[in-house]
Amino acid sequence: MDSALLLLSFWALAATVAPQTPESCPERLVGEERKRTCPKPCKVDKDCGSKRQCLCDGQCGLSCVAPGRTCPWPLTPSAAWEARLLSPTHSFSALLEVRCKSGLSLPSGLDATIRRCQGDRQWSGEEPTCAGATPPTAALTCPLPEDADGNIRIEGDGAVGTAIRYSCLPGSRLLGISENFCQDDRRWQHPHPACRKLYCTPPSEVAQGYVVAVQKTEYEVGFEVHYLCKKNFRLDGAQKVTCLSNGSWSAAPPSCRARCLIPAHRSRVMIDGVKRWPLDVTDAMVAHGQQVTFYCKHPQLPCSLATSHTCHDGQLPPPACYLEPTWLQYKLFPHRLVSEIPACHLPANATAV
Ligand SMILES: *[C@@H]1O[C@H](CO)[C@@H](O)[C@H](O)[C@H]1NC(C)=O
Repeated sequence: MDSALLLLSFWALAATVAPQTPESCPERLVGEERKRTCPKPCKVDKDCGSKRQCLCDGQCGLSCVAPGRTCPWPLTPSAAWEARLLSPTHSFSALLEVRCKSGLSLPSGLDATIRRCQGDRQWSGEEPTCAGATPPTAALTCPLPEDADGNIRIEGDGAVGTAIRYSCLPGSRLLGISENFCQDDRRWQHPHPACRKLYCTPPSEVAQGYVVAVQKTEYEVGFEVHYLCKKNFRLDGAQKVTCLSNGSWSAAPPSCRARCLIPAHRSRVMIDGVKRWPLDVTDAMVAHGQQVTFYCKHPQLPCSLATSHTCHDGQLPPPACYLEPTWLQYKLFPHRLVSEIPACHLPANATAV
């Protein structure tokens, strides 16, 4: 429509501003289907006598017309379209816009056309017919993308003047724009995007542990990887991670935590509710996360106070109040060791010094 409007406007300008310039007026085109009669052709005003001028008359080319002659105005009203003069008058070379009412369109598929007042006192073109029939869709859509790998989803039908939205199936990621616009020339404003399949990168190695998985450069969505720790190390974190649809692993890799040597030899300690000599415990060690209760001497009274510490990745410092008995104390007076004397019965909120 834009180019047609421009062309007609150009003719109109040519006719009003420089009517005598032959180059700006098309040669007379006499098509078979033309119903109207063209006025007498001319080259200059002299050819037309005193009452007429040699003016550009659209497809008739330069013709002898009486510039004051008018075309019918106003037009008989129509339910299908509205007419509007684009020129101050309805005389020769005036322009008239005919616009179809909402939802209707011309046989060309456009919703408006421009008619020009011709030398034969008729408006150019056919009588407008605005119809509600939808134009053939094939002619008024932009081509939708070829969905090579079946991953891309499209919202919208690609009709001229509308937008479509792209999305990817889970497990793939959109590369490019997420929205596009079908232009009047039936071309997309931007190139189509693509969906790239997502993979997880190889899972992280774990110190003192093993990754139980086939070694690959990339792992598919849903792939599971298990972690194991070396002997005497305890897993802290996820034992299993899964490749998620966004290309991330479901959890951070776990840690393998070291055991702790029980920092007492000549005292019993409480482990898992059982009071034991450290030498009776396998390797005299406890696992990461295990709690050990030590016995400290009350500063004044002949009784013991219990204090607990937890093994953390090889670290189990004894409480500050704990005193390792001497060899002599251990050998000669084993029943007087702090871990063996009665526990102090103190108020609940009292703490060991
Ligand atoms: C992937 O998805 C998970 C869970 O939905 C989320 O916690 C994680 O941050 C996402 N990763 C990325 C890179 O978006």
